This record gives sequence, C-alpha cells and structure tokens, in this order.
Amino acid sequence: MADAIGNKAAHDYHLDIPPVRDGFYVKGAAHCDWGMQNRMARLFNPKSGNAVMLAFDHGYIMGPTAGLERIDLVIPPLIPHVDVLMGTKGVIRACIPPSAPVAKCVRVTYDTTVLFDEMSNGGGIACDVENAIRMNADCMAVQTFIGAPGESRSLELLARTADAGARYGIPTLGVVAVGKQMERTEKFFLLATRVLAENGANIVKSYYCDGFERVAAACPVPIVIAGGKKLPEADALEMAYRAIQDGAHGVDMGRNIFQSDCPEGMAAAIGKVVHEHYTPQQALEVYQEIKH
Ligand code: R5P
Repeated sequence: MADAIGNKAAHDYHLDIPPVRDGFYVKGAAHCDWGMQNRMARLFNPKSGNAVMLAFDHGYIMGPTAGLERIDLVIPPLIPHVDVLMGTKGVIRACIPPSAPVAKCVRVTYDTTVLFDEMSNGGGIACDVENAIRMNADCMAVQTFIGAPGESRSLELLARTADAGARYGIPTLGVVAVGKQMERTEKFFLLATRVLAENGANIVKSYYCDGFERVAAACPVPIVIAGGKKLPEADALEMAYRAIQDGAHGVDMGRNIFQSDCPEGMAAAIGKVVHEHYTPQQALEVYQEIKH
C-alpha cells in the first residue's frame, strides 16, 4: 500500500483539456467491448453524451417514501422524459411494464434498513448477475460506504459485481453513500469517486459539491449526481445545471422529481438541462408550462 504520510497534494487537474476519448463517446469506455458499449449507449444519450436516470429505489432501506407509495402509478408516466429507471429487482418486476422503452439500472445490493441507527456494514448481494441478465438490465448499481464501517465489504461487492458485469457486458454503477457523520467535501468526493472507479465502477453516482469540476476531472468514468432531499424546483434545476457545466454526465435523481408537485414537468425540465444545456431559468419555464 502506498505510504499516505508526506504525500504531495494533488493539484494538476488540467481543467482546460477535455478527457482523452478514443473512439467511443462515453468517458472511460473506449476500451470496453461491444456489448458493454451498446448498453452504455442506452444509458448515455449518443447526442448529448449525458443521462437522465430516475432513482426510485429508496424503499429498499426506507420502506414507502413520500411520492413512492404507488410506484405503479407514479413512475410509468415519467418514462418518456428519462433515459434510465433505477430501482430494485422486486419493484421493477412488479411495477414497470416490460414493454417500456427505457433502460434499466437494477440496484443489486441490499443494506440495513433505517430502523438501524448505525450505517450499513456493507450489505450484500440482492440480485446476482444471472438475475440481472434475466431482467435484461442495462446496468447494475452497488452501494458503497467509503470512510464508514461498511467500506471494505461494500468495495468487495463492487469489485465482484464489476467483474461479473465485465464478463457479460453489463456496466456497474458505483454509488457513493453519505451518512450523517460523513463529510460532504471536495476532498471526500475526490477520494470516494476515484476509489469506486479504480475498483471497477464504469459509472459513479455521487453528489454535487464545491470544487466539483476537480472531482469530475479526476474520475476516469462518468459521474451522475444524486439529487438528495427535495429542494425548491428552481434550486434543483440550478444544481443540475451547475453539475453538468462542471463535468457531470447526468443525474440519477429521485425525490426532486417524484416529490415535485408536477413530477412530469420536473423530469422534462431536468432533461432539458442535462441534454440541451438549458439554463435553470429556461428549464423552470418548461416545468411551469407543463404544470399549468
Ligand atoms: C441512494 O442510495 C438512494 O437510494 C437514491 O437512489 C439516491 O439517493 C437518489 O435519489 P435522491 O435524488 O432522492 O437522493
């Protein structure tokens, strides 16, 4: 292991030079095989290079979340506005029509529920790669707990999932968890996102923060940002806009879409920011128009 004492601080992010891409438009995927690239192309729009993922996996640790009481009613109308659905195998199978023209990212790990005070010990596999293939998954999501007791176990699950995904051409999305005790700083996200990519994640889901342009630059695969708790619509659009401007390749957003008083309007507005670089104000107008 490299000696962490006396290390020189990283500073040379070359923010003015775009990442080297070598024949395929998704960051870090130029050397993947055809099947992996084909699935990546279902996740990341070939024109914009970005993705709108709709996360509705909250129930896997929280039970019914506000806005997700009836997933069969809430999520299908949003499908035309998003590129990817992110959920658990149980809910996708039960509530999403198999004919829906949308990519699927299946959350393949389980964790302790919110009834436990302490953060997960790393969880376990809830959906193996054969089941993911059976569901025709385009991506497998693994939760990780960097800087927390579950770190080692969750990194093992990430690495094993990424190996299985590489075998069958299915990308792995590494998810950065943030607990009550954990810092949400550039320093933390620089470390966490890089660690996930180094251990095999083809895509990383993280959070927007000050200094995000350095986080994105130093992560060799695309980062999509989580939305976090519900914000006013204008603020959520602003956050998405800044993230895209600073190098994110999309969002994997839940509550800021399905808890909005007009989820369809919000999904459409986020899509405009992610794919067409609408400003937050232009996107807010899209939301308001659909709402009224
Ligand atoms: C992550 O662990 C959660 O299960 C959600 O997928 C994630 O937090 C994204 O949803 P939200 O935008 O509501 O934070």
